[in-house]
Amino acid sequence: MVDRTPLIAGNWKLQQDHLQAIAFVQKLSWTLQDADHDFDSVEVAVFPPFTDLRSVQTLVDAEKFRVRYGSQDVSEHDSGAYTGEVSGAFLAKLGSSYAIVGHSERRQYHAESDAIVGRKAAAAVRHGVVPVICVGETADDLEQHGAAAVPVQQLRDVLSELPTGEFVVAYEPVWAIGSGKAATPEQAEQVCAALREVIAEARDQETADATRILYGGSVKSGNIAGFMREPNIDGALVGGASLDAAEFAAIARFK
Ligand code: G3P
Repeated sequence: MVDRTPLIAGNWKLQQDHLQAIAFVQKLSWTLQDADHDFDSVEVAVFPPFTDLRSVQTLVDAEKFRVRYGSQDVSEHDSGAYTGEVSGAFLAKLGSSYAIVGHSERRQYHAESDAIVGRKAAAAVRHGVVPVICVGETADDLEQHGAAAVPVQQLRDVLSELPTGEFVVAYEPVWAIGSGKAATPEQAEQVCAALREVIAEARDQETADATRILYGGSVKSGNIAGFMREPNIDGALVGGASLDAAEFAAIARFK
């Protein structure tokens, strides 16, 4: 039996400026501290916009909060003439533990291919930042190919660019994001199990056993427990429900 520390991650998307981020992280941390949350048993991380990260770092360092944080994207480049990009090195310097790569909104609105997502993941790894690789099928994909085919292929293609280094996978069916219609735990488990097999093929069984696979898509405090009971689901990537500190803390305390 492999022990994987669950990760409850909150993707704020384009919401909460740096002042709101400070108030939020304070409230989240105090709520979890008051509830005696064991951060070693369940890791909690927030993913604010880039412009909030320095403020979050300063607060977390000053208060010795155990909440971790990451970015919602990272450049595939380390430096140079790439206007608007933020490098893995800069994110590492800000104490970012993680960087989301390949979120479906980046794939849809910024035409990010699996090759780009793979290179972004590799850039994060180069700087000691753990990429959270997002994969997931659209409603059309689901109808035409079933749930697992597209995310499995996406992960295969991304991992072909990422031969080494720790990573996290987030299975986010696009049809479940922001729709209020989460996948069932059984549906999500089936795809997450298939994704773990992809990791074993691309790397090895040990890596597959050690890698955390999250579910994302309309997760809230009322449905998290069902996902966490599944053997191949190791946490959640939460959007809307991560913007309310009390609700997000309740998700993190799913047991
Ligand atoms: O990355 C998290 C996200 O896409 C899920 O969003 O609002 O359905 O929890 P939401």
